[in-house]
Amino acid sequence: MKNLRDEFPLIAKNKFAYLDSSATSQQPKCVLKAVDDYYKKSHANPHRGTYCLSVEATNAYDFSRQKVADFLNAHFEEIVFTKNATEALNLVAFSYGSFLKKGDHVLLSLMEHHSMIVPWQRACKTHGATLDYIKLNNNFELDLDDFEKQLRKKPKIVGISSVSNVLGTKNNVKQIIEMAHSVGAKVLVDISQSIAHEKFDVEKMDADFVVFSGHKMYAPMGVGVLFAKEELLEAMPPFLLGGDMIEYVYEQETTFAPLPQKFEAGTQNVGGAVGLKTAINFLEEIGFDKIKEIETELTKYARAELKKLKFVECYFTSNAKNHENVISFNLKGIHPHDVASILDSKGVFVRAGNHCAQPLLRSLGLNSTCRLSLSLYNTKQDIDKLVEALKYAYEMFFKTK
Ligand code: ALA
Repeated sequence: MKNLRDEFPLIAKNKFAYLDSSATSQQPKCVLKAVDDYYKKSHANPHRGTYCLSVEATNAYDFSRQKVADFLNAHFEEIVFTKNATEALNLVAFSYGSFLKKGDHVLLSLMEHHSMIVPWQRACKTHGATLDYIKLNNNFELDLDDFEKQLRKKPKIVGISSVSNVLGTKNNVKQIIEMAHSVGAKVLVDISQSIAHEKFDVEKMDADFVVFSGHKMYAPMGVGVLFAKEELLEAMPPFLLGGDMIEYVYEQETTFAPLPQKFEAGTQNVGGAVGLKTAINFLEEIGFDKIKEIETELTKYARAELKKLKFVECYFTSNAKNHENVISFNLKGIHPHDVASILDSKGVFVRAGNHCAQPLLRSLGLNSTCRLSLSLYNTKQDIDKLVEALKYAYEMFFKTK
């Protein structure tokens, strides 16, 4: 097998430890080349021109959509390109959310990203619905007893992420969907944090809505995906309005294009879609079993090394089977932003802050954490580098105090 690090120019060329793939992953050569080739050889506005270059761009866009559909085991019409997972979540909350009525309930997990929470807050306020949350247990997992209790309110929508971007907790999506469906709720799953690490089959899972961002799975920024069951998309009103999503426009009225165009207003990110298709090919060539093997080994190592540091507080439990390649931690007595800056000076890049999940952090009694996230291009040396930099940060801070 190829040396995976060599496939990523930014990683291969530099000595830093990039431990922030949950924020965004780096791009492999094949993705960079595919995007470059598209712009050099096939770029035009898709669906607009009858000339050959526009047809080529349309084909590039359609083939990319078909690739995403095959990857998720969905139909072509069920894949809507968006600019990222956030836009896809807004689309569902605005559009499917318009069916909410006064007195309805929407149920989210407390570990959701703001991009899930804030759009549903607005939808609930607009339509007179109530927003409820599923609590976490002491293992940093969803409390399924609380979930069962909340389901008695018969929510119309349940929104969960497959993996928490803060804690790395992996949710049992299949079980959650089954439980939610048993009371008639539709389920919206944000798989942004798992899609680069684990396959997601929408049919097997029986998911109603699924969203993710391309840039967290080795594709460029600016392209995201919404999957929704066809009958739901058919029933939903469009989100953004404009060119290419219409059928006929009269002075006062408009009819809309068939799926998936109905949800794609304006000129689309064809280069991004081409990059996404290539990123999926890249993942499939390596294989998800291999990816799991690499990342599980790294995660185990990172957890064990962090646990050895008495001055580090970790936000995972020994029940490791439910935690993925994301680890949050703090250095006792030092603000996470200071820690991250000192780590940066040592060439170790982690994210510090509330990770766009303030309700979760508040529920844990925290304001912010440092977060490391691992990907297939990381190595044990990256983790060793982190550990050395943490020791340095701790010593430096307490020496200068
Ligand atoms: N949602 C991204 C993260 O968790 C940006 O860092």
